[in-house]
Parts: sequence; C-alpha cells; structure tokens
Amino acid sequence: MRKARKKEHVENYLRTSFKGDNLLGDVYLPHNALPELNFEDIDTSLIFLNKKINFPILINAMTGGSDFSEEINRDLSTIARDFNIPMAVGSETIALEDDEAEKSFKVVRETIGDEGIVIGNIGGLSTVEDARIAIDILRADALQIHLNVAQELVMDEGDRDFKGVLQNIESIVKNVNVPVIVKEVGFGISYDVAKRLYDIGVRYIDISGFGGTNFIEIENLRNPSMDFTDLYSWGIPTAASIIQVRKLPDDLRIIASGGIRTSMDIVKSIVLGADIAGISGEILSYLVHGGILNAKEYMDNTIYKLKVIMMLLGKKNINELREVDYKLTGKLREIV
Ligand SMILES: Cc1cc2nc3c(=O)[nH]c(=O)nc-3n(C[C@H](O)[C@H](O)[C@H](O)COP(=O)(O)O)c2cc1C
Repeated sequence: MRKARKKEHVENYLRTSFKGDNLLGDVYLPHNALPELNFEDIDTSLIFLNKKINFPILINAMTGGSDFSEEINRDLSTIARDFNIPMAVGSETIALEDDEAEKSFKVVRETIGDEGIVIGNIGGLSTVEDARIAIDILRADALQIHLNVAQELVMDEGDRDFKGVLQNIESIVKNVNVPVIVKEVGFGISYDVAKRLYDIGVRYIDISGFGGTNFIEIENLRNPSMDFTDLYSWGIPTAASIIQVRKLPDDLRIIASGGIRTSMDIVKSIVLGADIAGISGEILSYLVHGGILNAKEYMDNTIYKLKVIMMLLGKKNINELREVDYKLTGKLREIV
C-alpha cells in the first residue's frame, strides 16, 4: 500500500497544475552598480550540520521504498554528491515495516559517501525506536520529522488523530544523537508553531511553505470520493513563513522550502533569514522529464545565476547575503 502510494505521489505531483505563489516575488532587492568584486571570488560555500557544503541548497525529502524510488534516489544522490550539497530522503516509514525497502534508502548514503550530508525522514508520531532505526539505516547526519496534517486529512486512508505530536517530537529530540529538523510538506510553519517547537528543544525548522508542491492537490488526484479543489490555496506562503519563524533566536536554523525553483528564490530566502533553501518538486521534474543530465544542467544554471545575483548585490559570500537591505511589497507586506 505504502509503496504504491509513494509511486502515485511522484506521478500525481507531475500531473498537478495549480500554481500557488510563494510570495518571494514581493521581496525587493536593491541593485549595486559598484560591487567592487571579482566574479571568481564569489563564495557560495557554508557550514551546515557541521560539514562544509558548496551551495546553500538541499535536495529535499521525496521518495524511497521501491525499485522505482531507488532509481530516483540514486540519481538525486549522484547530483547531491557531485555538487556537494545535502540530501534528505522521503519518509522511511516503509523501511521500518519492510526490510526489503531499506536498499532504496541506503543507496543514498552509498552514493554520497561519508563526507556528504544525508538526512533521514519520519512522521510526527513515530517512536523513538523508529527514529533510531531511521537514523541507522542512513548513518544520517540529521533526522527530519514531517508534519503533514493537511495531506493526511485529504487522504481517505490518512490519519485523523494528531494529539501528542509535540510531546512525541520532544522525546525524539531528547533521545536521538543527531539534530532533529521539523518540517512541513508545503503548507508552512507559523511563528506560534515554531515557538512551541523551539521551546521543546528543536533547533532546525524547515518551513516548507505554500507556493510549490501542493499535497492537497496531489491527494485530491488520488481520492475520487470528495473534491478538495476549493482548498488548493490553503497554506502560509514560503516568504511569509520564513519572516515569521525568523523572529525566533539566531540559534534556530531555518531551511526555506516550498516552491523554491530559481536562484532568485534561493537568494531571497537567505536574505529573509534562512540558512539554506530546499528544492523538491522542481528538481524532480527536471530529472523525470529529461534525465540526470537535464537535472544537472538545471543545477549548473541555478548555481551560476546564484553567483550573478550575489555579484549584483555586491555580496561575496553567504554571510554577507544575510545583510542585504531588502524591502517588502504587496501582499507579503500586508500579511507580515
Ligand atoms: C513526490 C514528492 C514526495 C514527497 N514525499 C515527502 C516525504 O516522504 N516526506 C516529507 O517530509 N516530505 C515529502 N515531500 C515534501 C517535500 O519535501 C517538500 O516539503 C515540499 O514538496 C515542498 O517543496 P517543493 O515545492 O520544492 O516541492 C514530497 C514532495 C514530493 C514532490
């Protein structure tokens, strides 16, 4: 059941047509006509989860569990290794129930090697024991715990009881030996939710906001019994979510995801206070439609343009990018 569902998620993601707005377009960045920099000296590297990576980009959680997802995970992890960026796997719940499914996840660590960053993924009601197994399968550098209430409620067979999730996350945070990243799956994290997570010891939040992959639409395409089209615009836009969560202290690391497609999205996320940006749907589209070379070309272009924008802002490294004097306009300004 789970294996079939994971395949349908990829297939249905590719069939989705609703276009949400992450509102990063409402962030205005000032041009610098006198950057006084050599393009060669632009440095996009940073330290993330105690390892040096070349770009502030994470290939975010998508899949695992079947031969089909093993192929996708092999290609995505090859890209992560070649660009020296982190990668998170899709939910490992399948592997907790079926040993056979483990290899489609393990391929990610095997490809990336011990120098790179691999991140595990489980749900909010998984046990501490499950969390430890999920970490062991990958020798993971960190563990993502996904919050996906909206997705579950649209699934006929989805969970309906979300009591005790916060307390459960707290016990995982206290009983595993890698950092825990709490993430949404495309509906965003509010200040209030981030504060409650911060207060129980969570120091990494992936806001995964509205404006990209839309799990209400993905699940609606799988569910013939009810039409959820009127909920397609539900969620906190990525830009608004980053700004809200950034009000928490600096030791909270923010991963910006949800509709991150371009270098401009990545730069604006960092300018607003994210440490790194996560991409799921967009790289999957390039991979599935044109193969690994197509996905690598997308990455090459994204990285080149990332440097171009840094140059045009007169910022030579990622730390300096965080100091850009931006302005908020339009709907984003109204919301925040
Ligand atoms: C096909 C597909 C499968 C996904 N599966 C998972 C998953 O298993 N666990 C998870 O935490 N997020 C999952 N996600 C959500 C992404 O990690 C991310 O939070 C969300 O897609 C928003 O980013 P995007 O707009 O760049 O796709 C999945 C996304 C896609 C497109």
